[in-house]
Amino acid sequence: MSATPPAAAQRGLFICLEGPDGCGKTSQAARLADALAGAGIPVRLVREPGGTATGERVRAILLDRSAGSIAHDARTDALLFYAARAQLVAEIIRPALARGECVVAARFADSTLAYQGHGSGLPLDELRPVERFAIAETRPDLTVVLDLPPEIGLGRKSAEETTRFEADFEFAFHQRVRAGYLALAAAAPDRYAVVDASQPADEVFRAVLATVAARLPELGARLGAAAEPPSSP
Ligand code: TYD
Repeated sequence: MSATPPAAAQRGLFICLEGPDGCGKTSQAARLADALAGAGIPVRLVREPGGTATGERVRAILLDRSAGSIAHDARTDALLFYAARAQLVAEIIRPALARGECVVAARFADSTLAYQGHGSGLPLDELRPVERFAIAETRPDLTVVLDLPPEIGLGRKSAEETTRFEADFEFAFHQRVRAGYLALAAAAPDRYAVVDASQPADEVFRAVLATVAARLPELGARLGAAAEPPSSP
């Protein structure tokens, strides 16, 4: 008699927060991960570029301005971001999703389409095959774009916190990045939501949570249950 094989864990859900510099993705992603964990959902929080030993080294090449800014060709930037992302997917994201964990990412593949594609002008149809090579079928179930005009976003960080992209790229670049995100979201409304990130951070978080709950009902049910007050004895 053959034993019944153990049921395979259901694949976890992959949520990505995207948006222009200064939109607050990093802190909103951390708050979302906390809320999911508080509802008893196993969650893995990742950030890009980085999140693995290899990815952090690539991040230093891409963003470190301590030795002065190094100008890269946009194709070099794109390939470095894809390299860091391929490692993050292989080492962290894909195994976590396979274990049934929910993955929350601050930035993912759309950052390269928005910054190196729309921003720097690399053709999207040349970037997409490289994206497929790097991440294969591992894509977000929901991407929340935190939308913000660059005149607000670029003023939010201190001089030490600014990345090469914020410091060295012209204002029009950041306008193209923002427009790029909105175009990506408009092209696939079933997989994207846009939240106004110019509101106070608590309002943005409320909107992010409501969006996740509405668009991913399996998480919404558990988030809702966690938010309900305990019934009196
Ligand atoms: P980071 O310090 O992570 O900034 P943020 O908190 O705004 O995410 O720096 C990431 C920088 O790299 C940011 O300026 C956006 C840029 N970037 C790209 O240009 N392409 C990409 O694919 C990614 C992931 C980031």
